[in-house]
Amino acid sequence: MRHLMSPLDFSVEELDQLMDLANDIEKNPEKYAHACDGKRLATLFYEPSTRTRLSFEAAMMNLGGTVLGFSSANSSSASKGESVADTIRVVSCFANICAMRHPKEGAPLVASMYSRIPVINAGDGGHQHPTQTLTDLLTIRSLKGRLNNLTIGFCGDLKFGRTVHSLIEALVRYTGIKIVLISPEELRLPDYIRDDVLRANNVPFEEVIKMEDVLPKLDVLYMTRVQKERFFNEDDYIRMKDFYILEQSKMDLASPEMLVLHPLPRVNEISVDVDNDPRAAYFKQVQYGVYARMALILTLLNIKVD
Ligand code: NCD
Repeated sequence: MRHLMSPLDFSVEELDQLMDLANDIEKNPEKYAHACDGKRLATLFYEPSTRTRLSFEAAMMNLGGTVLGFSSANSSSASKGESVADTIRVVSCFANICAMRHPKEGAPLVASMYSRIPVINAGDGGHQHPTQTLTDLLTIRSLKGRLNNLTIGFCGDLKFGRTVHSLIEALVRYTGIKIVLISPEELRLPDYIRDDVLRANNVPFEEVIKMEDVLPKLDVLYMTRVQKERFFNEDDYIRMKDFYILEQSKMDLASPEMLVLHPLPRVNEISVDVDNDPRAAYFKQVQYGVYARMALILTLLNIKVD
């Protein structure tokens, strides 16, 4: 039985197969409409989410399956003090597969050790968010036609942004990748990723504070929200929250081919006037997220459709 904790749980070849499957689902959704008839997905969300939880639920429903679960720790027995290990043993009796989001790093990994069903990490604290990474890779591959030879800029909260951590770990396995890290001093990428992921893989990278300086050379700009819930001090958050705002005047500096991605939710970091720019791909990214999760559910449940 396989779980998904980190994007590295799949080899590059396996990821390619998963993305091929996602693109086939995009083209022929009716072929997959009953692939999960009789199967059930549990969504165990101990932390708020709109996109990820609904995207998982839509993915399972598109496959003909059903869903059950909870959307906050308060509405589950966690509020009575139940451990993640016990919860997953119980849920293993109710569902065939589960997606778990938790504010504590490593909680889905603990769950996977006690589970009788595949567990998908749907975000654990500031650590990893592998299904957002599948979504991001699929979006880039589908819209740019490749995952090699790309210069990718990450902008905003690179310290707490788990989607950034997961995507960087996944990208360094492709060739010709250059990374540009755009953040204020206080929100720089954690050392362990700079050293153990970027330096260890000899991936060229630079760190800048001003977005304007690097925009012209980017193939992809990955914008992120300042992660309010992970700040210890409200004043620091207020000081940081509007550090970057991508507006049309900045888009004018970028290549006509550059893609703008954002895992969403957006707060202020992308001005709404950018939404109509053909390079704004963040809502298409949401749609790709459903195809990616459909492909993942089929893969982990080992269901083949011909
Ligand atoms: C992200 C997350 O939860 O880490 N959202 C998402 O899943 N699409 C990004 C964020 O909350 O800023």
